[in-house]
Order: sequence, then structure tokens, then C-alpha cells
Amino acid sequence: PAERTALRERIKRLLKEREAVLVAHYYVDADLQDLAEETGGCVSDSLEMARFGRDHPAKTLVVAGVRFMGETAKILSPEKRILMPDLDATCSLDLGCPADEFTAFCDAHPDRTVVVYANTSAAVKARADWMVTSSIGLDIVAHLHAQGKKILWAPDKHLGSYIQKQTGADMLLWQGSCLVHDEFKGIELDLLKAEHPNAKVLVHPESPANVVALADVVGSTSQMIQAAVESDCDTFIVATDNGILHKMRAAAPGKTFIEAPTAGNSATCKSCAHCPWMAMNGLQNLADVLENMGNEIHVDPAVGQAAVKSINRMLDFAA
Ligand code: 13P
Ligand code: SF4
Repeated sequence: PAERTALRERIKRLLKEREAVLVAHYYVDADLQDLAEETGGCVSDSLEMARFGRDHPAKTLVVAGVRFMGETAKILSPEKRILMPDLDATCSLDLGCPADEFTAFCDAHPDRTVVVYANTSAAVKARADWMVTSSIGLDIVAHLHAQGKKILWAPDKHLGSYIQKQTGADMLLWQGSCLVHDEFKGIELDLLKAEHPNAKVLVHPESPANVVALADVVGSTSQMIQAAVESDCDTFIVATDNGILHKMRAAAPGKTFIEAPTAGNSATCKSCAHCPWMAMNGLQNLADVLENMGNEIHVDPAVGQAAVKSINRMLDFAA
């Protein structure tokens, strides 16, 4: 603990010296989330991270999250310096949707409006008409469907089929998944619900359909926290990365949060519901990047100029 305290103080000092701001996702280490809040940065879902980074006057942003979040920040603010504690922090959705294969898929379906999830590379966003996050994907697809558009959706198949069911839109789905949310199990969740009959179930829509079917609330990380705060209920079963529990407990003190069941130690998921790439962000590498001003995110300017159109469509829609 003494070492952590010293590192936290060093990071606070360096953030000031470098005139940098820390933008963190709810799934990263609790210390990093607290530091972001204490130092005037932000801890939030992907949509708010993008908006906050774009609007903050600091010339240097340190993004504690995964690579697509740093890239989105750079695409929105090419003039800013974007640093990340570990540049290898990626995402199974991003890895499962290589730009060349995705481009071929789009080319084969020119009649469809291309909507991609934020959890993708800059090159994939550059090929898309719209980028969406989990908090607003459903509203945007509903809007496109109302205009009679047919959708090509990538990469998350669970989020895509959830939106398809809710909106009735014609959606052709890429078959990607999040290795964390894919592990939640419907049958086990049903048994846990029976043990806690008064609990409300909060589910992130990257989860499989039989898990989403048991939800009282389906939403982005911020929307799940908001639901926990606003609900009259005092017990919740939470189906998303367990990094979120830190903020949920702080935002709704006195309430009880139970992790939804996963398959446990399967080949793809060693630590149950915690993203191995989010876990690559720590106090030590955060202090190191601030010290050395290293680990800078670069996006090819031509790719960035194409990708910013799909991101801005979402931000304009959200505004
Ligand atoms: P949110 O946008 O709901 O925070 O989810 C993003 C995500 O999947 C991070 O892993
Ligand atoms: Fe990607 Fe899933 Fe990790 Fe989020 S939790 S960064 S969707 S692998």
C-alpha cells in the first residue's frame, strides 16, 4: 500500500507538470479510476471518454483503457498528444475484425449502410458510415431503420443481434465477440436469480442472447451504473467486466452487487469477468508514460480523416 500511495502521488505530480489529463474506462484498475476523478479527468463509458477527450483543453491526454479508445481520442483530436500506459492493450472485437477482410465484406454488400462498434481499428472505422458505442447503437440503428436503410453491422454479433431484435432492422452481422462477456452463462444466471429473487439483473449487451434475455436493464457501462443508482432495488446481479463494481459500489453505497456467473477457468478466460487487456493498465506503467512521455498513439492522418466522419456522425446524433 505504501508503494501504491507513493506511485499515486507521483502520477498526480506528473499530470500537473505535463499539463496532461487522465481519461479512464470503468474496467481499469480502481486506483486509476480514482486518480482520473481526483485530478479533473474522467472515468466513464466509451462514448463519454471520446467526448471528454475531444472537449478537454489539455494538449496531452493519457487514455487508460484499450487501444481503440486511444485511437478514437487521436482521431477526434489529431493535434493532441495521446499516450497510453500499454500500447498492446487491445480487444478481441478489434482483433477479430481485420480491416482487409472487413473491407471485402463491405464491398460485397454495397447496398448496406455500414455501422461499426467503437471497439474496432481506425482503418475499420474509416470504411464505415457510422461508428456507434453500446450506449447509443440501438438508437442510431433504429433511426437508420426508420429511414428504410439496410445495415451491415460489425464486429460484435451479440450486440448486433440484440439491436436487430429490438429494432427489427435488416442487419447483416459480422461474427465477432468480446472474450469477457461471451463467458457469461444464462443457465447459471437463472439459478443465481432464483437465489436472489429480489435482485435486478444489469447486463452489458456484448453478452450472449440467453443472458440478455434475463436482464432487467441492458445498457452501456455508464447506463448500468446509472440504473443501479436510480433503482429502488438494493441488490443487483451484474453481467459485465468486474472492474465496474468499484464505481458501482461508490455511486450506490449500501447496495449489494453480485457478479454474474461465467464459465470460470476456460481456455479463453482465465480470470472470469475481467478483461486481460484492460488489466494491462497499472499505476507503474501510467507513471512511466508520464515520466517519459512515451507510448504515443499515432493514426495515419488519411485514415483518421476518413474515420472521423463516422465518429462525428454518432457525436452529432448524440448531441
Ligand atoms: P462501454 O462503452 O459500455 O463502456 O463498453 C465499452 C467496452 O466494451 C469496453 O470494453
Ligand atoms: Fe474488448 Fe471485451 Fe475487453 Fe471490452 S471487455 S476491451 S469488448 S475484450
